[in-house]
Amino acid sequence: MKPRGVLLAGNWKMNHLQKETIAFLDAISPILKNSAKPDSQMRIYVPALSLEVASKKVKAESIPLQIGCQNAHFQKSGAFTGEVSIPMIQEVGIDQVLVGHSERRQLFGETNETVLKRTVSALEQGIEVLVCVGETLQERNDGKMQSVLESQLSMLVENDISKNAFGKKLHIAYEPVWAIGTGVTATLDQAAEAHAFIRGFLSKKISADSANATRILYGGSVTPANFKELLSCPDIDGGLVGGASLKTESWTQLWALI
Ligand code: PGA
Repeated sequence: MKPRGVLLAGNWKMNHLQKETIAFLDAISPILKNSAKPDSQMRIYVPALSLEVASKKVKAESIPLQIGCQNAHFQKSGAFTGEVSIPMIQEVGIDQVLVGHSERRQLFGETNETVLKRTVSALEQGIEVLVCVGETLQERNDGKMQSVLESQLSMLVENDISKNAFGKKLHIAYEPVWAIGTGVTATLDQAAEAHAFIRGFLSKKISADSANATRILYGGSVTPANFKELLSCPDIDGGLVGGASLKTESWTQLWALI
């Protein structure tokens, strides 16, 4: 039994149309309903245009699945072409958001500052946040893994709102950038070291209680072949899964391993 339960979170990125989303939920619903796991949750971060259809279906059919948004802006409204606001996602029944995924950081200019702003704004509006952190291969090879994680986390532990939310409405996903979508998973030792570092950092900067209550998910080429081993690490509280969350077979296999 894991002390914080297990969170299996899927990140669909820019995949699946609404009709595919409905078919996916239809396929997994009976499996989920027949395999309730006390203390553990399943969540999927779906594309913004599928939030409404997914959240309505989950509620109407009592499917034990949380639906989350992959990103949301820190302003409630305004001249931010192409962005989605927290009130907009709340209007369609969403109370979960992913912030600072490495694709947002690398492809869309997200910085530690904007990650903090998005996180604090979401928390102030009552939304639960999963913040992604992780080093690139170059940074790892240069021996900078810990300093990168520290810089990605430091603003979050200095701001009163995010600091006080750790372990409650704020959790972390450690995703080494070199492991995302590459088929290369961190070894158990590499993942264990990073997760222990993150928990130790939170303990030092906030409190042991907050650190112990914070879920730290591992992400980066998680599959049914490696998930069980990853979960054997005491500091790994679940997975943030891209590729293997897209097909019902691999996704339900991951759930069965919890
Ligand atoms: P992956 O993606 O499982 O396909 O490596 C993980 C992620 O980007 O969250």
